This record gives sequence, structure tokens and C-alpha cells, in this order.
Amino acid sequence: MLLLPLTAMATEVKSPNGNIVLNFTIEDGRPTYTLSYKGKDVVRPSHLGLELAKDKHASMGLNERDLMDGFTLVKEETSTFDETWQPVWGETRDIRNHYVEYVAVLQQQWRSAPPKAVSGMQLQPRLHRREILIRFRVYDDGIGFRYEFPQQPDLNYFLIKDERTEFAMAGDHTAWWLPGDYDTQEQETQETKLSEIRSRMQEAVNWGNSSVAVFSMTGVQTSLQMKSQAMDIDGERRSLYINIHEAACADYATMHLELVDAETTELTTKLMGGSNAYTPAPSTIPGGSSAGSYPLPQPFTFVSHLTPDATGLKGAMQTPCETPWRTIIVSDDARDMLSSNLILNLNEPCKLEDTSWIHPTKYCGVWWEMIVGKSSWNYTDEFPSIKLDNIDWTKVKPNGRHAANNEKVKRYIDFAAKNGLDQVLVEGWNVGWEDWANMWKRDVFDFQTPYPDFDIKMLNEYAHSKGVKLLMHHETSSSTQNYERHMEKAFQLMNKYGYDAVKTGYVGDIIPRGDHHYSQSMNNHYLYVVKEAAKHHIMVNAHEATRPTGLCRTYPNLVGNESARGTEYEAFGGSRPDHTCILPFTRLQGGPMDYTPGIFVTRLKEWSDNTSWARITIAGSLALYLTMYSPLQMAADLPENYEKFDDAFQFIRDVACDWDESIYLEAEPADYITVARKAKGTDNWFIGGKCDENGHKSVIKLDFLDKGKKYDCTIYADAKDAHYETNPQAYTITKKVVTAKDVLKLTEAPGGGFAVSLMAK
Ligand code: NOJ
Ligand code: CA
Repeated sequence: MLLLPLTAMATEVKSPNGNIVLNFTIEDGRPTYTLSYKGKDVVRPSHLGLELAKDKHASMGLNERDLMDGFTLVKEETSTFDETWQPVWGETRDIRNHYVEYVAVLQQQWRSAPPKAVSGMQLQPRLHRREILIRFRVYDDGIGFRYEFPQQPDLNYFLIKDERTEFAMAGDHTAWWLPGDYDTQEQETQETKLSEIRSRMQEAVNWGNSSVAVFSMTGVQTSLQMKSQAMDIDGERRSLYINIHEAACADYATMHLELVDAETTELTTKLMGGSNAYTPAPSTIPGGSSAGSYPLPQPFTFVSHLTPDATGLKGAMQTPCETPWRTIIVSDDARDMLSSNLILNLNEPCKLEDTSWIHPTKYCGVWWEMIVGKSSWNYTDEFPSIKLDNIDWTKVKPNGRHAANNEKVKRYIDFAAKNGLDQVLVEGWNVGWEDWANMWKRDVFDFQTPYPDFDIKMLNEYAHSKGVKLLMHHETSSSTQNYERHMEKAFQLMNKYGYDAVKTGYVGDIIPRGDHHYSQSMNNHYLYVVKEAAKHHIMVNAHEATRPTGLCRTYPNLVGNESARGTEYEAFGGSRPDHTCILPFTRLQGGPMDYTPGIFVTRLKEWSDNTSWARITIAGSLALYLTMYSPLQMAADLPENYEKFDDAFQFIRDVACDWDESIYLEAEPADYITVARKAKGTDNWFIGGKCDENGHKSVIKLDFLDKGKKYDCTIYADAKDAHYETNPQAYTITKKVVTAKDVLKLTEAPGGGFAVSLMAK
């Protein structure tokens, strides 16, 4: 059917309450959109499109054409959707998914050069026609949009050179950003104006990470949180909070953003340093109008930049298919950034039929003492390197520092049982840790053979006899080929001994060599692991894997990810006190983080040779169980450290990790976050407040409590003289009975916080 182009008028689409307005049009053959919030520009005219590779693997081969220009709008459809769904676990029992959808059907039509005459016959040039869709969902708290590619002769197999989605910002916003990097997300967040990203880049990179690939002086990661200058909104001076991320990134590369600033002449200039020397230079898009390229957009425009695989290409696609959703969350109230469900809503509903085996989990672990350097993952120091098949482990000389031994694991199991923790993570239980990292070694672990001092059968039976489970650990060392070969047997072993959760890890450069942590192929690997694990009723918590994009809605056995700078960095030099007041705005947008909170003895020197220290008070550590939402929460410190502060540890014993309701009471990126949550299936509430290095005062009206009820209230607060640096262990515990009429006035120390439990009487 031949569809005729519609007239080139912009189409306006309003969100259900009208605050968000999307405009879409075709400008000189290029799809273009704008976005506003309460009449203020959020995204100025921005182009949409993809550059495709001319390559023998594409159906159109060397005649491939970009999906950038030459488009006409041939059909439009608008509809509304309103549904409430229940997540398997989450911050709230119900989630409303309410949006106006707009679909633009776009057509490209061109004639290829006439083929050479064959045996005297003159052939006609072929007419090519192809269609793509751009689907927008317009919510009251932002938008999502994606490209869709129906199956058709002229768009069948294609290769993505890069996606060219633009986000033209309306001002020089303040941004909280991480350097764009194909291989690590474990950096300290930078807070600068957009115009200052370039000058901050070199020092922002975590050159020390075991895998680094930085692609641009202005490249940043998503989720990117921004704040505009104040403007008149609803008769007040207010700022816009704008967040750019993505939803449902499956079978596609993870997106970064590259800022066009006043100095940009071409995108993607490679940075040098660390292991980045071995990363091939990314392809550049010169400015100006040289053949096959497109003019650079205006300064303050972000352009999408996908993670390449080992070929340098960004995606191998087969229609019908679609991109992930590109998301823009916007509000003039920072709290809305945290309560938004836009990213979960854009993901597909749960695909697992039976989810009864998936459960929120509180755990401790044989972990922190290795991270701090007091004990080791490896069993022996005897060999310069290990070949797994050549070693009789019963004969090797133990180094005396191996933590995952029967006696110690039993002590952790006892501690978990005594304190109501569900599971005990044990790292370093399996052979191969002697030369596991940074060797680019393929056959690094078999995920099945325990060290001789770890009796897997006995320990699991011991744990189960006390109502506790062990939590499995599979460090892959980024050797994904090796993991995929052993995975089925490794999951069978877990089933045999009664493990139902695994923490995976991807430290170091990827094998197959040359690939990157956030490429399409690696994203396929992470999801493959989650799906295979589900068949075995195993929950997954993946470290160093790609930042989440809400796929936990579809596969709720993905209960956690690290994918940012976690508590381990408190032992590697420390993180700034405001770090945890930023993460909920950025990293947590796509899904929960296994942040592993709960460090009570912040000066590691007190029990080890490590001179690093955690920049947080004990009350602040308690607050993280509320402000850093996750269905998987660790009590990361050593049992003996908790025993010294048992009255404060009571909060960790009590706190829930699954919720019927969550109310963000106060929030400002990098300054403070206060949230109240109602524990699932109970009348009990918990409140947490966490602040930066400046301290914070909170006045909390308890009017969200049940009007007719009384509550036993316990307040864990920073003492008057508490301070994250000089006096982190000074806290007070106050008990009283409260009702919905009460108001709590609480003071958070610099780098501190508070935690409150409200148990219905
Ligand atoms: C890095 C992870 O983030 C950490 O939690 C783990 O202990 C080590 N890798 C070893 O697997
Ligand atoms: Ca890590």
C-alpha cells in the first residue's frame, strides 16, 4: 500500500494532566521533537535517527542507507493507556502506568543506481521504500520514545554505526555525571555545569579501574541527572530537574551521551590513559557537510553514543526489532525524580509464570574482610599461576588467610541466624582465585570445585538447619565464554545444595577479547544469565554488569546489580559523603543497587592494615537501608563490629526490604534524601534520612500514619557532636509512642543521617 505524506505540521501530544507537551515534526526530512514542562523548554528541537554501516553483513550490503534523513510522515496514531500493576517486589504495592501514546510512521523512498545491463537487457533502477516507527509515551513525569523497525525487504539485517538521538538542553544546567566509559561505572559522580564537563573530564575518569575505555572529552553516562537555573513556575522561583536514561535495554548496546559544547568540532575523540590504549579509536562524525555525515547540533545538545563491540560497530539487528526506550523524566520537584516509575512502566510485564520463589533478602557475608585486605579469596600463595586441571588441591599449601573456611562460614551462619538475616554470601569458596583478575585468562573458574577447607554439603546443611541459606558467588572475571560453558552445571550444583541466589561479577576486560562491558553482545549475556537462572529458580545480583534499565519488571529474579561505585570503594580510598545522596537520582533510576551498606567501624585501621575510611556516621549507615531502595540488602560489616554496637544493629534486624508504600518527604540531589516506607503486608513504617557533608535538619509530619493507631517509635540519630570524619560512632537511640498527629524534628550531622522505626501497636 502506498501511503501519502501527511502535511508537515508539528503534532502536539499532551500528558494526561497536560504538564508535559511533546511536539513532533519532520524538518527537512529529519524526524524532530521538542519537549516542554509547564510551558518551559526541556528539550529544544532535536533530531532523531540512526547511522547504518555499509557492510557485507547488512541485507543492503554496500548500498545501505542511513536512517537519518529523507523521511516523510505517512501515518500518525494517538491513544491513551491507564493500568495499575503489582510488582513482585518493590517500593510500592501498586504502580500506575498512565500515558498518552503517539506513534509516527515514517517512510524513506529512493531509487538505487541502475544496475549494469545484463545480456543486452536494460534493467530499471530499483525503487526502495522502507518504514520505521517512532513510538512516544507521554507521562505526567516525562516521556519515553523508541525506534521500531518492522520486517521488510529493504530493512531486514542491518548494522548500527551509531544511534543519533539528540537531546538539546535549554540551558547550561548543573549536571551530576560519570565519564562515558565502555567498561566501568565505578566512578565518583562529578557535579558541574554542562559547559564544564570537558575541563573536568581527565580528572573524573577512574583510570585505576581494571577495565577502562573512555571515548570522549564530553561523553557521560546515563542515568544523567540535571537541574536548571531557577525560573518562574506556578508563581514561584523553581528549577527543573531533568533526568535522561533508558528503559528495557535488551539485545541492544547501552547508551552514553556525548555533549556538543562550544568547542566541539567533531564527536568522539579518544582519551588516553590506563588500559584505554588498547581500545580502538571510536569512529568520528566530522562537523560540516562532508559526504555521509550530518551537521553537528547546537551547543548544549547531547547526542546518543552506543557502546561498540569488538568490531567497533554498535549493533547487529534483525527486523522486526526495536531500540530501548530513551527516557526523559522531568519535574520542578526533586522528589518526583525519586518516586517516578516511568522506567519500570516502559518495560514489559513479568514474563515469569511462577514468581513464588523470588523473595526480598537481607544478608551478611564473608566479603568485607577480603575487600579490606585482612583475609584472602585465594587458598594458597604457592604458585605463580594456576591451571585448574593440573592441581591436586588437597596437597597444596594453604596460605592461612583464606576466609571461606568451614569454621568462619559457620560463625557467619550463626550470626545470620541470631539476627534474622536470610542469607550468607561466601566469596572465595571455589578454586581459581590464585590468578583470577587482570590476566585475560579464559579458563579461570569452573564454579563447581570448592577449596578443600569449604565443605559445601556440610555448610549448606548447617545453614538450613538454622533457617539460613548460603548465597552463591560466581565471579566470572569477565570471561563470559567460560561462564556460559559452565553455567548450567553451576546452577545444578546450586539446586542440589539449596542455594536460591547468586552474586555474579565481571571484573576486568571482557573475553571474547576486545568486547566491552556494555555492548549489545554483553547485554545479551547478562540477560541470558538471568533467564537461565530463572529456569533454576535462582535470583541474580550482577556486579560490574551494565547499568539497569528496569528489566527487573520483566524478569524479577534480577533482584540487584552493582553497576556503580559501591561500598567496596570505602576500602579503596573512600567515596564522598554526598555519594549516596546522588545515586538514588542516577544509578537507582533503572533498578536496585547492591550497595552493600552498613559499615559501623568506618576507620578500617581499627581492625586491619587498611588506612581507608568510610565517610559516613553510624546513623547515616542505617539510613541507607531506606534511602537506597533494594529488595536485597546486605549488612556488610563484620559480625564482631556489629556486636560492639548491638543497640544500633537492632535497626538492621528490624528494617524491612519490601514495601507497600513509599513517600519521599525531602530530596535535593547531592544534598539530602528523606523517605518513609510502609513494610509490605504490615502496618509498620520506617523512615530514613541521609545527607551530605553539610548536615541537614528535617521536620517530619507523621500524618501519613494510620489515624487511629499508636506506634512504638525508635529514633536512631546522630549525636549532637557526631561527624563523619571526627566522630562517626556517636549516636542516640530514643524511644517513644507516637500517632499521626506527631512531628519529628531531627538533626543530621555532616555525612550523617537518621533511621526511625514505627511499629504499630
Ligand atoms: C567486585 C565486586 O564488586 C565485589 O563485591 C567482589 O567481592 C569482587 N569483585 C570479587 O568478585
Ligand atoms: Ca565492583
